[in-house]
Amino acid sequence: TIPLLVDCDTGIDDALALTYLACREDVELAGIVSTAGNVDVDAVTRNNLILAEMLRIPAPVARGSAAPLVAELMTADDTHGPQGLGHAVTADPSRREDPRSGARLWVDAAREHPGELVGLVLGPHTNLALALEIEPELPRLLRRLHIMGGAINHRGNTAPTTEWNVAVDPDAAQRTLAAFSAAERPPVLAPLDATESVEFHQDTLDALAGTADHPVIPLLLEAFRWYFEFHRADGFGWMAHVHDPLVAAHALEPQLARTVPLAVDVELAGTLTRGQTVGDRLGRWGRPPNVALMEDPDAPAVIAHLLETLREGLPRLR
Ligand code: BDR
Ligand code: CA
Repeated sequence: TIPLLVDCDTGIDDALALTYLACREDVELAGIVSTAGNVDVDAVTRNNLILAEMLRIPAPVARGSAAPLVAELMTADDTHGPQGLGHAVTADPSRREDPRSGARLWVDAAREHPGELVGLVLGPHTNLALALEIEPELPRLLRRLHIMGGAINHRGNTAPTTEWNVAVDPDAAQRTLAAFSAAERPPVLAPLDATESVEFHQDTLDALAGTADHPVIPLLLEAFRWYFEFHRADGFGWMAHVHDPLVAAHALEPQLARTVPLAVDVELAGTLTRGQTVGDRLGRWGRPPNVALMEDPDAPAVIAHLLETLREGLPRLR
């Protein structure tokens, strides 16, 4: 089995990513870390506890940082709903959170599985940046790191040149990418350029509804109804861009997308562009590549794989 830690700001697409991971029999979740982002850290932690309970995930669920390293916290209630799960109405979880901080759980899980742990960052990088302060060897302790974040040649989804996860805590993203340039394998960075090619349409929701008789399905459908409404209000029509499940799936099924080496850094000083991820395609900086940039995912294969994994896995999680 593959020990895996997921750090997320659940979040509608984060919720589907967690469901997917719970369904993978070959994954042993070593921790779920919540980070403030889509909604505040209380709501994210609550959502993660609800999902861990519903999906019978025994992993510790730890509360991460309530605020970015330097920036003021911004949240995206319009995108994900006031509680982060769209229209879904949820009872309080009976699962309790782990007493450790999110950063501490990153470090403990990495030390428990030296060279083995796969890390997924599906929200702002705050906890990972704090974990690096406790354990600067993290880049060498992890087996691989996969990040949903950034917008390289893209109109952005936050400010005109920025992607949400990096825009919320640009300082943390900058520090993380710098620190992980010392990793044996550069982190896989999945920017909007790649993730926005995975579009859910009504037929995807219909297929999701038919995957399994499990309480997480009505929850996800109510969440995605909000996400579709948000995208429609934003001018995209009745659909949604589904970022985080792609990153989770690609971490386990690398054939779903190719990657190219690239030097990427985060703009921290720009008055219009703070939080922009800048990629050096022509090597002007003379720096070695520090990420494996995800490109051109096979979107139909990703969607089919997600649905099939739920269809196969959810009946075991009742
Ligand atoms: C990212 O921001 C969040 O709203 C999503 O969950 C995803 O992780 C996309 O920019
Ligand atoms: Ca997210």
